[in-house]
Amino acid sequence: MRTPIVAGNWKMNKNLSETKSLLSELTSVSLPSNVEVVVAPSFVVLESAVNTTSNSQVAVAAQNVNAAANGAFTGETSLNMLQSIGVNQVILGHSERRDIYGETDEIINEKVLQSIEAGFRVIFCFGEQLSERKDGSHFEVVSKQLSSGLKGVTAEQMSQVVLAYEPVWAIGTGETASPEQAQEMHAHIRSFLSDAYSAEVASGVRILYGGSVKPGNAKDLFANPDIDGGLIGGASLVASDFLAIVAAAE
Ligand code: PGA
Repeated sequence: MRTPIVAGNWKMNKNLSETKSLLSELTSVSLPSNVEVVVAPSFVVLESAVNTTSNSQVAVAAQNVNAAANGAFTGETSLNMLQSIGVNQVILGHSERRDIYGETDEIINEKVLQSIEAGFRVIFCFGEQLSERKDGSHFEVVSKQLSSGLKGVTAEQMSQVVLAYEPVWAIGTGETASPEQAQEMHAHIRSFLSDAYSAEVASGVRILYGGSVKPGNAKDLFANPDIDGGLIGGASLVASDFLAIVAAAE
């Protein structure tokens, strides 16, 4: 059985005191032991978040990283810097990184490869645009994002990868993929993994759904056989909502 993961992508929200207060709410309750809980706060509060969560079931991830080891990259953060403060998980390929900051499949692939090499767990995001869903190319688009983003990742290294299917039209819009639409795509992703790697890899990789997951729809989404939890944006900023979603993954 795959252990479900519920990960909160805080995006550019929560300053230091807000981070401490949200994390104290998350760490003061007992979480279901069979769900992995991850939060991804902003870079400036990561070290504080690592310290606040150190004796808890809540793990901390970064929202991005630079693939280079070091050097003249103004405003960027390296894998080694993250490791030095105890962070060893990173979200890569989020649609906001792709669409707003111009990250291509190639840039993301380099980040994926370097992160895996450095021992990180990668939460790799991908998903189609609304126009691609409408013209029926969504399966093809997702396959292409997977083959480009995971290029060079070995079957063994796939144990360090968590996939997050996030249809762009459902992110922050309040419009969620129906449980049937999500399950259909997750089954497609698993069959992609089976072809690209093996049935064993396909059955072991956690595939999260993301895009307007809320307490009210989480259970129906997570009940599907190929949906192994969620990547949560807006609803991860409110402790009671996030905790309800974690409970729905149990
Ligand atoms: P949302 O964001 O839950 O606010 O739609 C999800 C995400 O971007 O990861």
